[in-house]
Amino acid sequence: MTINRQWLLVSRPQGEASVDNFRLIERPLPELQDAQVLVRHHYLSLDPYMRGRMNDAKSYAAPQPLNEVMVGGTAGEVVASRSAAFAPGDKVVGMGGWQEYSVVADAQRGVLRKVDTSRIPLAAHLGVVGMPGVTAWYGLTQIIVPKQGETVVVSAASGAVGGVVGQLAKARGCRVVGIAGGPEKCSYVERELGFDACVDYKAHRDLKALAAALKAACPAGIDGVFENVGGVNLDAVMLRTNAFARIAVCGMISGYDGTPIPMANPSLILINRLKVQGFIVSEHMELWPQALKELGAMVAAGQLKYRESVAHGIAAAPEAFLGVLKGRNFGKQLVKLV
Ligand SMILES: NC(=O)c1ccc[n+]([C@@H]2O[C@H](COP(=O)([O-])OP(=O)(O)OC[C@H]3O[C@@H](n4cnc5c(N)ncnc54)[C@H](OP(=O)(O)O)[C@@H]3O)[C@@H](O)[C@H]2O)c1
Repeated sequence: MTINRQWLLVSRPQGEASVDNFRLIERPLPELQDAQVLVRHHYLSLDPYMRGRMNDAKSYAAPQPLNEVMVGGTAGEVVASRSAAFAPGDKVVGMGGWQEYSVVADAQRGVLRKVDTSRIPLAAHLGVVGMPGVTAWYGLTQIIVPKQGETVVVSAASGAVGGVVGQLAKARGCRVVGIAGGPEKCSYVERELGFDACVDYKAHRDLKALAAALKAACPAGIDGVFENVGGVNLDAVMLRTNAFARIAVCGMISGYDGTPIPMANPSLILINRLKVQGFIVSEHMELWPQALKELGAMVAAGQLKYRESVAHGIAAAPEAFLGVLKGRNFGKQLVKLV
């Protein structure tokens, strides 16, 4: 009998989430039924959106139910199959959740996707050539629609999404400026990822200082904003926008613990005739093949760099997840299980 270790969400956070919101349990794997596939997870993906799912609040997605396996992307290998669509040995990406194995029914078509690991490592299908990569591609190409020579600013710039945004914008001939926390992350963004500049928001704590640093880094103003953080970050960027700038609102991580993050100068939306548009990448599945093709080709050709923070073993998942909300990750946060 194989034992499956699983993390359940057992309580909802008030303010900051903590490890006590989760419980690790062991359950025997059920016998595989007709048209089912058993996947052994090699990697769990830990993503900021999971913090929103922990709340019992109205959102674009239903809350994570209590006492059920925590939601999440997974990459692994089919170890047993009673489905014609999958064979043992297939490498797959799915939404298996925080557990070592998942049983996926054929009927849940689209939930499990076979991936080619001959040129792209399995883990990258959860990051740069996965949901975060497509998120970067979507916000940049469908909302910001950058033109050559324009200036694009992206926050959480060293992260899974932000790092891809900047490199895609550079490939489209833009001046690209990142915002990230600390000199090590900023140096990586400039030297490894090839951004033109990176502003360390931790060295410019208030609005005036951050806006001044952005002014220096963006002498021609800002035409495109890929917003991952919100709060003071967004206020400062908005102050430097040019007329008709486009703001793709991808995330607001500085407010995920429930702290209000009011906008200081909403009148700038009118004064600068800004386009401000939020988006959820999973609502645009029709564009994923196009995005994955471009991202996959760039990674295979060594034109798209990325970095991963890897925690080891299922027990490490909650702590690693909480780290993402604190900026302790440096690149795509994963848990390696196999
Ligand atoms: N709309 C969508 O469909 C969609 C899809 C995927 C992701 N997202 C959003 O995209 C953003 C980035 O996600 P990701 O997966 O790429 O994560 P990530 O950037 O790899 O990790 C999150 C980063 O956010 C920064 N951060 C955390 N708390 C912060 C705070 N209070 N103030 C400023 N920065 C903070 C940290 O970087 P620093 O150390 O630099 O602060 C941290 O490393 C998130 O907002 C996420 O919710 C949206």
